[in-house]
Amino acid sequence: MNKTILSLAAGLMLTGATLTGAAVAQDYPTKPVTVVVPFAAGGPTDTVARLVAEVMSNDLGQQVVIQNVGGAGGTLGAGQVAAAPNDGYTLLLHHIGMSTAPTLYRSLPYDPVADFAPIGLITAVPMTLVARKDFEPNTLEEMIAYIKANGENVTYAHAGIGSASQLCGMLLMNALDTQMTTVPYQGSGPAMTDIIGGQIDLICDQTTNTTSQIQAGEVKAYGVTTLSRLGNLPDLPTTKEGGLDLEIGVWHGLYAPAGTDPAIISKLEASLQKALTNETVVSRFAELGTVPVTAEEATPAALTEMLGSQIELWRAVIEAAGVYAD
Ligand code: MLT
Repeated sequence: MNKTILSLAAGLMLTGATLTGAAVAQDYPTKPVTVVVPFAAGGPTDTVARLVAEVMSNDLGQQVVIQNVGGAGGTLGAGQVAAAPNDGYTLLLHHIGMSTAPTLYRSLPYDPVADFAPIGLITAVPMTLVARKDFEPNTLEEMIAYIKANGENVTYAHAGIGSASQLCGMLLMNALDTQMTTVPYQGSGPAMTDIIGGQIDLICDQTTNTTSQIQAGEVKAYGVTTLSRLGNLPDLPTTKEGGLDLEIGVWHGLYAPAGTDPAIISKLEASLQKALTNETVVSRFAELGTVPVTAEEATPAALTEMLGSQIELWRAVIEAAGVYAD
């Protein structure tokens, strides 16, 4: 008799828990959602995040608030989200750095696969090699020769080991077999301020942060890291045209902490897909040299696939370069 009552009670509790979970997901979100951007405000990752967050706020009926958590090439912010409650109210918007950090940092405080629930891909942003506007070289070939001749007298800005700008710089120095003096920032937003101010020579940064500066003549541009020239920067040669084997597309994804209710993930996936077809987002991305991914790519499966394959790809490249953060 007691066993029957106990198993009935357990069943009711389980049903209740399940119903509660379903009710929570159904009502989600009931308060503002925080999206952690693991770099300083004003940089390319922040730019992508704010454009997407604005549309998702309207779609979800709750503020999607950007929280900038810079430091350690994006790993501080990523670690904060990995340790956050998996209730759907703390998300991470991060880029290719999710796939390079596991190799660059041998004591990373999180696992980019096990500790996150992917929501979807967002965009892949080309990179550009730009310098302070009075930097001596005038062409990509002259820039290459200048770096080779001046080595550590050339200063190179990046957003910390694990950032896209650091990855590009590492690949550039490897390709030229020349070490520059590298200077880390909390993000390439503040780094760009010093490039424009002339305090530092060079950066490889995403078009979402460089296009307007190039078009305004605030920086000197040498090349793009894409296989073909960009429509909005047609005069910029590709790195390949300059004899550099340096192609990078900085893919971005949206993540929740592992264990987040799949119904909440699906709601966020649908909202992200709406943001990526929003006219303002599409036209602003185009102005900044990039395009949103397709609906099929703005999915957990596509982001899972991208993350896994990129971790393997960059592990081989980084181990060959022998450049580690710790
Ligand atoms: C990077 O270099 O990873 C990004 O440009 C950093 C940022 O978004 O500030």
